[in-house]
Amino acid sequence: MKTNILVIGGTGKTGRRVVEQLQNKGIEPRVGSRNLLPSFDWDNKDTWISALEGIEKMYVTYYPDLAVPGAKEAIESLTYLAKELGVKKMVLLSGKGETEAEACEKIVMNSGMDYTIVRASWFNQNWSESFFLDPILSGEVALPMSDVLIPFVDANDIVEVAATVLLNDTYNGEIIEVTGPELITFKDIVNIISKTSKRNLNFYDITLEQYIDGMKQMQMPNDVVWLIEYLFSHVLTNPKNQLVVNDIERVLGRKAKTFLEYAQETAETGIWSQVEVQ
Ligand SMILES: NC(=O)c1ccc[n+]([C@@H]2O[C@H](COP(=O)([O-])OP(=O)(O)OC[C@H]3O[C@@H](n4cnc5c(N)ncnc54)[C@H](OP(=O)(O)O)[C@@H]3O)[C@@H](O)[C@H]2O)c1
Repeated sequence: MKTNILVIGGTGKTGRRVVEQLQNKGIEPRVGSRNLLPSFDWDNKDTWISALEGIEKMYVTYYPDLAVPGAKEAIESLTYLAKELGVKKMVLLSGKGETEAEACEKIVMNSGMDYTIVRASWFNQNWSESFFLDPILSGEVALPMSDVLIPFVDANDIVEVAATVLLNDTYNGEIIEVTGPELITFKDIVNIISKTSKRNLNFYDITLEQYIDGMKQMQMPNDVVWLIEYLFSHVLTNPKNQLVVNDIERVLGRKAKTFLEYAQETAETGIWSQVEVQ
């Protein structure tokens, strides 16, 4: 089937859901992944031309994060190539309160292509599909900065916005800030997940240094430790990240999902009940 929309990171947290959103509208996008054909690999530019061939619009998520060294250069190369190959519009998933991500946004904004930037705060799904899931399963959640207020946002809201702005040119040239409807702390979150999953989770407030040491002791890769330290020390504490914005309501005409709603739905899937055996 002919397709003119590419979803880069199309098997990831938001990309997979954008693909579903488009399919529900009868559109079959090309899924950008290292494991599908044509494949797309950020680390292998030889894959980029075939992935972009015949594409008019694309949703781009960078892996692992726009803040990592090399991300800006990769976004720059991809953006130039896309323009050269005739791509008309790019929707970039960016991060709120990330200086490096803003540098990537500027590349897209100055590309001459139509664009919409979807600038997201931290995802609820980090607790069920990413790095906060393991501590939840272990029952022992030790995190720094337990009182920082964060407008956690639901990935389903992000992608509904992303799919809308991808298809609807009214939002061209805009930065849409997607946040949840409330400011919430890690302590609040662990309480909510305890209640909705009917588990007794223990929360420990630790320092960032203790958190980093713990990751090193678990022999997590250095680049992952670097990224998590960066996210805690620069992004989480950035005042720009600690604001609720009502762009989800503006684009979708309905309220953004609360963390409680997300937690109730997620608890029902059973993901938080698969308790680790020590
Ligand atoms: N998590 C948050 O709280 C948060 C908040 C704000 C912004 N963001 C931004 O969200 C973006 C990530 O989006 P996401 O969470 O939707 O994705 P994700 O789930 O983190 O990413 C997984 C996707 O990346 C792909 N991938 C991994 N390595 C790749 C490579 N070398 N080349 C090509 N694809 C590769 C995977 O595809 P295959 O394995 O199939 O190849 C998969 O589709 C980041 O740029 C981050 O800055 C995240």
